[in-house]
Amino acid sequence: MLQCSNHAYYTGWTTDISRRVKQHQSGRGSNYTKMNSPVELVYWETHKTNQIARKREISIKKMTHQMKKNIAHGNNHVEDDTKNFAKYEYFVSSPGRVNLLGEHVDYNGGPVLPVAIDRSVSLWANKQDDELFSIKTIDLNLEVIFSLESLERKLDIHGARMPDWALYPASVIWAAVKNQLTVSGFDAIFSSNVPIGAGLSSSAAVEIGFAALLREICNWQIDDTQLALLCQTAENDYVGVNCGIMDQFACANGVDNAALYLNTSSMKWYPVPLPEDVILIIADSKVKRALASSAYNERRESCNQALKIMRQYLPTINCLADINPDQLKNFGKSLSEVTYKRAKHVVDECQRVEQAVEFLKNGDIVSFGRLMREGHESLRDLYEVSIPEIDILVDLANQSQDCFGSRLTGAGFGGCTVSIVTKEKSDEFIQYLKSGYFKLTDKDINVYKCKARTGVFVEWRKINQSQN
Ligand code: GLA
Repeated sequence: MLQCSNHAYYTGWTTDISRRVKQHQSGRGSNYTKMNSPVELVYWETHKTNQIARKREISIKKMTHQMKKNIAHGNNHVEDDTKNFAKYEYFVSSPGRVNLLGEHVDYNGGPVLPVAIDRSVSLWANKQDDELFSIKTIDLNLEVIFSLESLERKLDIHGARMPDWALYPASVIWAAVKNQLTVSGFDAIFSSNVPIGAGLSSSAAVEIGFAALLREICNWQIDDTQLALLCQTAENDYVGVNCGIMDQFACANGVDNAALYLNTSSMKWYPVPLPEDVILIIADSKVKRALASSAYNERRESCNQALKIMRQYLPTINCLADINPDQLKNFGKSLSEVTYKRAKHVVDECQRVEQAVEFLKNGDIVSFGRLMREGHESLRDLYEVSIPEIDILVDLANQSQDCFGSRLTGAGFGGCTVSIVTKEKSDEFIQYLKSGYFKLTDKDINVYKCKARTGVFVEWRKINQSQN
């Protein structure tokens, strides 16, 4: 990009930048630069093929002066027309999730009971016929452009380190390439109202959203569960977070007004309808703790240790979920105290999920709520992933007669509680929880009323290309 004497930007492509700039500067480049000389080189990018460079030239030429100025000055804040949603052909909605029961069992082959919630990532996009990915986050007002070539090294097209927020969409493209799926470039913008780092799967919602977009534009023949497995690989191997499958599964497979019973060993699942007269209340303690932290991996390691020892005596077991509480008792002396506590949480939690599903099927929400309380005690005392703020919220909720059960949800070490509350009394309950927590801690919480919704979906509409 050359800046001309009239302040306009001239964009072109070449295989030899210094020769071409000299031509423009000496009046032999083009009529426009000749008429508006002197010209100065203000920005350049290198691309793998001439064809990609030409496409990029065309797309820059279509930009407004302000957009070009942002590029020329290395300002990666999004352009003024970001919110021009009408220019995008694809819309994707990808939900966050809350887990009702079955915590820290998905990496032990156990059953889980998450719900896709009506807080979600919204994503708008156009397919591009090249290998460039241009992604903007409306919430952070930032943009990144990267190519397939720079993906492996986690660099953008300028050679700068990929920003953290962009690792999630990038991870999906990376995992797709690894799995020999065709990928195509795209131009996308997204926004999310899933609170970040609060244990409601804000990352999985982004991954599943971008994966569903690529599935649509590249015609991948894979179902929602395969999509979730792809995104789990992306998060494990590219982002570097060692999560299980529950989050991505729930974002992909959500069902209206139902929890999802998933056996994480067989990946068999079915929806379990939630009673109509209750609502999910999610209380965010606002205490943040990244999942990538060592504590999550330490818990996984304890589970692996327990499995290794028990396998010496029970060689047919594949995972901790294959053990029942009576069998576990016999290992009291073979495992360290901490390892035993971790294994006991997992084994009991698997039983709780199986029982809870039966209660839900029979409409017995009171017994379901009791299991949620027991689940929390186990996370607090045996798995030791709760924190004082969360315990206060759970205790307050469990003291209310409008609440059937409340517990920590997600990995823990901060984040949110989930409570099942009588729908009619939900506003009173929220007031009670907020003021009770404030009295005890002098701090505010965020509270969300949530419904179970469908998993990710993509909408397509024909647009008038001239709007570009
Ligand atoms: C995080 C992980 C999940 C699961 C939960 C704990 O959300 O991403 O895979 O392990 O923690 O149940």
